[in-house]
Amino acid sequence: TTKHLIAPSVLAADFANLYDDIQIVNKSEADWFHIDIMDGVFVPNISFGFPVMHAIAKHATKPLDVHLMIVDPDRYLKMCKDSGATIITVHYEACTHLHRTLAAIKELGCKAGVALNPHTPVSLLKDVVRDIDLVCIMSVNPGFGGQKFIEQTYAKIKELRDLSEGVNDSLLIEIDGGVGTNNAAKLLEAGADVLVAGSSVFGAEDPTEAVRQLKNVLPI
Ligand code: DX5
Ligand code: ZN
Repeated sequence: TTKHLIAPSVLAADFANLYDDIQIVNKSEADWFHIDIMDGVFVPNISFGFPVMHAIAKHATKPLDVHLMIVDPDRYLKMCKDSGATIITVHYEACTHLHRTLAAIKELGCKAGVALNPHTPVSLLKDVVRDIDLVCIMSVNPGFGGQKFIEQTYAKIKELRDLSEGVNDSLLIEIDGGVGTNNAAKLLEAGADVLVAGSSVFGAEDPTEAVRQLKNVLPI
């Protein structure tokens, strides 16, 4: 078992001082930048789009893990790649032809991720799990930072581990929403590989220290 990854979510950064927050992540023990793109249709909020992401990419020294909370993501995959994405994650609920979408993401040279809303069962990925690089299990309803963690997430992680075992052993399981030092150990124990953290990092008095703590949590 390799060490887990930490992906601070820029959604919780100070948008008027983005450069400073990017530098904090660059210099921290964080592994990726988590970039939340919302369209006001798939989710009831609008965050920022590809021009802002591209500006972030110019200063970021770590991979951009892009979470597309948008309808019809196929229309934007190329723009997403050109704006600096390393990983592109689309929502299961937003893709009628998910298998084709995943192929298109890989065709662009990106890693392909699928996000599941809290109500979407892991078992729906059975016939596509071998084609996925990362599954993002939403532990809140997407759209906003700072929400309460949904406890059912632990069971979903274990179920996904069982589903992917022997079929896709390099699959990364990412948890997004309400993650902090209070639940990180239990998430790792259940089988999580990547922890997204917005408010628990940028809302902390010392974001660098918050990342350090998350990165050094041990699975209990
Ligand atoms: C929610 C986003 C998350 C969000 C997490 O729609 O996908 O990435 O930024 O924020 P916290 O860590 O504050 O729950
Ligand atoms: Zn996200």
